[in-house]
Amino acid sequence: MPSNSLSIVDNRTGKKYEIPIEEGEVIHTAALRQIKVKDDDFGLMGYDPAFTNTASCKSKVTYIDGDKGILRYRGYPIEELAEKSNYMETAYLIVKGELPNKQHFDAWVNNIKVHTMVHENIKKSMEGFRYDAHPMGMMVGTIGALSTFYPEAANIFDLELRRLQTRRLIGKVPTLAAFAYRHTRGLPYVYPDNELSYTGNLLSMLFKMTELKYKPNPVLERALDILFILHADHEQNCSTNAIRCVGSSQVDPYSAVAAAVAALYGPLHGGANEAVVRMLEQIGSIDRVPEAIKRFKAGEGRLMGFGHRVYKNYDPRAKILKRTAYEVFEVTGKNPLIDIALELERIALQDDYFVSRKLYPNVDFYSGIIYQAMGFPTSMFPVLFAIPRTSGWMAQWAEMVRDPEQKIARPRQVYIGENLRKWLPLEKRPEPDQREDAVSTRI
Ligand code: ACO
Repeated sequence: MPSNSLSIVDNRTGKKYEIPIEEGEVIHTAALRQIKVKDDDFGLMGYDPAFTNTASCKSKVTYIDGDKGILRYRGYPIEELAEKSNYMETAYLIVKGELPNKQHFDAWVNNIKVHTMVHENIKKSMEGFRYDAHPMGMMVGTIGALSTFYPEAANIFDLELRRLQTRRLIGKVPTLAAFAYRHTRGLPYVYPDNELSYTGNLLSMLFKMTELKYKPNPVLERALDILFILHADHEQNCSTNAIRCVGSSQVDPYSAVAAAVAALYGPLHGGANEAVVRMLEQIGSIDRVPEAIKRFKAGEGRLMGFGHRVYKNYDPRAKILKRTAYEVFEVTGKNPLIDIALELERIALQDDYFVSRKLYPNVDFYSGIIYQAMGFPTSMFPVLFAIPRTSGWMAQWAEMVRDPEQKIARPRQVYIGENLRKWLPLEKRPEPDQREDAVSTRI
C-alpha cells in the first residue's frame, strides 16, 4: 500500500478506500465519488461553502504562507520587490513568470504605453453616467464595454491575442480610473501623458488642472508604485476566483475582468480600507481607543483592517505600508488618523482577544490612511486596488485558460428544498404559510 494515501472506511458498508495524497497535502475530492452504499448512489462529495479548505486550481503565480506572514510573487519576496522593483517590472514578472532584462523591460513599458488611450466612444459612454456615479460602478460597466470594442478578444486560445488584451488592459485601466474620478468631480477628462511613468501618468490624469505639463511629486509617484506592487496579486481571493470562474465559460477577458472588478467592489474585499478610515474617523481621538477596543471585543462591530482569512500573522504588506505612510506624510503633512491607528494596533497586539485569534493588521489598515493623505476620496480606494490587480487577474486568467485540468466552473450543491410537489390551479392553492421559518425560505 502506498504510504502517501488516505485510507477511508465507510462505516455504512464496512468498505475501505485508498485515496492518493498529492503534493504532500492534497486529495482530489472527485475521488470521494466512488464511496457509495448502492451502485446508483451519487457518491460522497465535499461540502465547503466559501471554499475555505478547497483548492480550485494549481497556480505558479503567488505563494502565501499565512501562518508565517510570507507573500511571494513567482518566488520573489514581496519585501524585496517593494524595496527594489517597480510596478511595471512586477507586472511583467506576474504576467510572464520571470523578471525582465533591460531590453524586455523597455519593450514591455512601451507596449503598455501604446495602449493608454481609449476609444472616444468609451469616453462618451462614461459621460453618460450620473454625476454622482460611484467610480467603481463606472469601472465595472466600462471595462465590460471594452469587449465590444475588441471583439477579437473572444479568441481566448490565441496566445498573441491573449498577450495583446493583457497589455491593453494594463494600459487602459489607469485611464478609465482617472476618467471615472474626473467625472465624479465634474472635471474634464485628461488624456494620458506617455512621457511619464505608469503611476506618474495616473497622477497627471487624476490631478492635472490648467498647467501645460503635470509634474508628479516623485515621493507620491513612488508611494503609489509601492502600493501597486503590494496589490498586484494575492492568489485565490474573491475577485481572482471571480475572474477564473467567469473566464472558465470561455468568455472574453474584458467581460471576465469586469466580473473581477465587481467582486472587488464589495465591502469585504476592496472596500475594507474605506471602512478602516470611517472607523478611525468615528473613534476620533486616541483617548477613545480603549473604549473602542472594548466594543470590538464585545462583538459590537469589528476592528476593521485587522484579521485575514489567510494571514494568521502580521500581513507583510501592512508592515511595508506603515513605513510608506510616513514617507507620504513628509509631502502631504501627517494624516492625524495615523495616531489613532497606531494606538489601536499597540493595544490590540497586547490584548488576548486579538492575540488568541491571531488577528493582526492587514494591508487595508494603512492603505486608506495613505490614499486619504494623498487627496483621494474614499470611493476611489477600491479603484486604486483594481488598477494594479489587473496584472494579477490577467496572469491568473491566462493560467486558467492554458490549464488542461480546468473546465467550466460548476460547483455541486446540497439540495435542501421541497420534494416532488403537485401543481394546483390558482384558485385551489392554500393560503401562504405565514410561519417565520416558511417566510425565511422566500427570496
Ligand atoms: N475585529 C474583531 N474580531 C474579529 C475580527 C476583527 N477585525 N476579525 C475576526 N474577528 C474574530 C471573529 O469575531 C471570530 O471570533 P469568535 O471565534 O469568537 O467568533 C474570530 O475572530 C474569527 O473570525 P472569522 O470571521 O471566522 O474569520 P474569517 O477568516 O472568516 O474573516 C475577515 C476574515 C473577514 C478578514 C475578518 O477578520 C474581518 O472581518 N476583518 C475586518 C475586515 C477587514 O479588515 N477586511 C480586509 C481583509 S484583507 C482584504 O480583503 C484585502
